[in-house]
Amino acid sequence: MIRPRRNRRTPAIRSMIRETALAPADFILPLFFHEDGEDTPIASMPGVTRWSLASLVREAGEAHALGIPAVVLFPKIEEAIKSPYAEESFNDGGLVPRAIRALKAAHPTLCVITDVALDPYNSDGHDGIVGRNAHGEMDILNDETVEVLCRQALCHARAGADIVAPSDMMDGRVAAIREALDDEDYTQVSILSYTAKYASAFYGPFRGALDSAPKDGDKKTYQMDPSNAREALRETLLDEAEGSDMLMVKPAGLYLDIIARVREATTLPVAAYQVSGEYLMLKSAASGGWLDERGIVLESLLAIKRAGADMILTYYAKQACEWLAER
Ligand code: PBG
Repeated sequence: MIRPRRNRRTPAIRSMIRETALAPADFILPLFFHEDGEDTPIASMPGVTRWSLASLVREAGEAHALGIPAVVLFPKIEEAIKSPYAEESFNDGGLVPRAIRALKAAHPTLCVITDVALDPYNSDGHDGIVGRNAHGEMDILNDETVEVLCRQALCHARAGADIVAPSDMMDGRVAAIREALDDEDYTQVSILSYTAKYASAFYGPFRGALDSAPKDGDKKTYQMDPSNAREALRETLLDEAEGSDMLMVKPAGLYLDIIARVREATTLPVAAYQVSGEYLMLKSAASGGWLDERGIVLESLLAIKRAGADMILTYYAKQACEWLAER
């Protein structure tokens, strides 16, 4: 008789036939920080902190020591310096360039990834510049935004970023950023594009962390409709053709089908972002004592990797490494 259970009989056998395993090198840690000298707990994301610049450097060092290869930076920008054109997003003396320089000085082997989008800097809270289209309707101005994104990416490259990650979902931004970087001889700086970024309700806690929610309207004219899967493949082909080095699917846990299909459609590395709302679901189920935190977190990350992600952005990155080391 054929008995599949023989392959599950002992821990040794199970370990030999295991198809997917998590490792610290799979993780990218998103980090929030601000100009303030104090570390502030983020009310919308229990267990996550918005760091001072000094603490950001220490926290990134701790993550790197656990084996995490990369961090991605999310600044909270003071309201007073936000503007409709988001000029602060390409200020060489701004918070992000200073953070990049401090991180690279303290941890030269750490890979520093930056988010390229205008929402932390835009007084309207959108990823692009808010204007009016030819019909007089409110619109996010695509090509004007892409020009600012190029300046932002260059600013991050000058400060020493290893990878820029455009999360804005404007059309044509990957090609434009690649050209801008190459023209200034930043040929070694990679692009990790948010390829299939859905207009998700699961970003709510993140916008609370950065005070970056749109003042008016929503993001549905640039982020993707959660109903669509084929459209993710269209974005995949475009980002690949435009020269992206790595692609991202976001959110992750509810979009495993998209991760698997993007994985099939490209030979490029695929990243997936376990977003703030996913973190909050896991955290709240665990803090109520309803579910076992270690079990649900590691299983959620394993599922994302099994679906086809090479890299996982997760707020649980450090804790996952600690749990993996205990095994
Ligand atoms: C902004 C950006 C967002 C996230 C990453 N980059 C929010 C948004 O698009 O509104 C969300 C991350 C998370 O929820 O953890 N460009």
